[in-house]
Amino acid sequence: MVSRKIPVILRSCLIRSEFRVFMSEPKYILGIESSCDDTAAAVIANDKILASVVATQDIHSHWGGVVPELASRAHQQKIVPVVHAALSEAKIKKEQLHAVAYTRGPGLLGSLLVGGAFARGFASALGIPAIAVNHMQAHILAHFISGERPAPVFPFLCLTVSGGHTQIVRVNSTFDMVLLGETTDDAAGEAFDKIAKMLGLPYPGGHLIDKLARNGAAERFGFPEPRVPGFDYSFSGLKTSVMNFLRNATREQPGFIEDNMADICASVQERIVSILLRKFKAAADAQQITQLAISGGVSANSRLRAGLEALAAEGYSVFIPPFEYCTDNAAMIAVTGWLSLKEGHWKHSETAISARLGLQDL
Ligand code: KG4
Ligand code: ZN
Repeated sequence: MVSRKIPVILRSCLIRSEFRVFMSEPKYILGIESSCDDTAAAVIANDKILASVVATQDIHSHWGGVVPELASRAHQQKIVPVVHAALSEAKIKKEQLHAVAYTRGPGLLGSLLVGGAFARGFASALGIPAIAVNHMQAHILAHFISGERPAPVFPFLCLTVSGGHTQIVRVNSTFDMVLLGETTDDAAGEAFDKIAKMLGLPYPGGHLIDKLARNGAAERFGFPEPRVPGFDYSFSGLKTSVMNFLRNATREQPGFIEDNMADICASVQERIVSILLRKFKAAADAQQITQLAISGGVSANSRLRAGLEALAAEGYSVFIPPFEYCTDNAAMIAVTGWLSLKEGHWKHSETAISARLGLQDL
């Protein structure tokens, strides 16, 4: 009989056959995500989700953006009930867990510290490993959560678009990821949120632009496309151009925004998506990769999803995550923890929280 506590001593003590027996049993892993303004916990059995709970911190909409100190305080209040809810929804007792996976970075330092300290304390009390996970890798590895959709095959290209990052990543294998391009200023989600704020929409406004754009004419206002070398992106020019356009238009017609909301949203969304997809496709062709995936909060955007799907007609295989695994969630952290354990990637020493963790770190 192989003990539940074996992972702690995995590297030093297990002989190959024992490791195979250990890994052949389903592993229950608790995932904890607290990098920004969502407190999330999930329980998985290998790559199968048993429960995924996300508590969004509404307090930030009042301030028009995430307030770091308020975010860490809200994580402190929510982490215990959220973990409790995930365990009870999964019908798993904490003593049945084999490991706890948590976000080590990148993200807001105070927020990461709350989740990381809780996860390490919880794991230590249970005598099981605490597996540090890279949030950006986890967004990509969310494609390996078991479900009805097929997972991409290595190597594939992933466009990770969130509130803090915009990256084109070549994924050679589970933990071998190469950054081909990224934003030089604002992230795509940040552009959505900042423009939404100019339109008087509450934070985070990305999904509201998406919703309002459905009744708008995307070709009505032609916002400029930046010229950035290589596979990098830039969104600050677009932001400034929308700001100047709105300022001039409202000077002449004070109700301009309200009267043209749907068309403005559709035109802004069209430009952000066209910027994203043009570079992504160019990178894919340069790398001679035809498997294309998207991930991160902005991958919930309906226009981006439709744009990627349209590439399937051009001979690309496209992979789009289910909505619940696009924005921040702990299921992606748990599945990354499981892959880390399974592939022997996890190192006991990698524990310190890091707000600026790079894609290849961990
Ligand atoms: O991945 P995520 O939940 O958090 C970060 O790691 O940043 O991404 C959040 C971002 C926000 O900027 C939010 O406005 C954006 O994703 N977002 C969307 C949509 N849903 C979320 N942007 C455009 N359209 C959407 N439907
Ligand atoms: Zn994220």
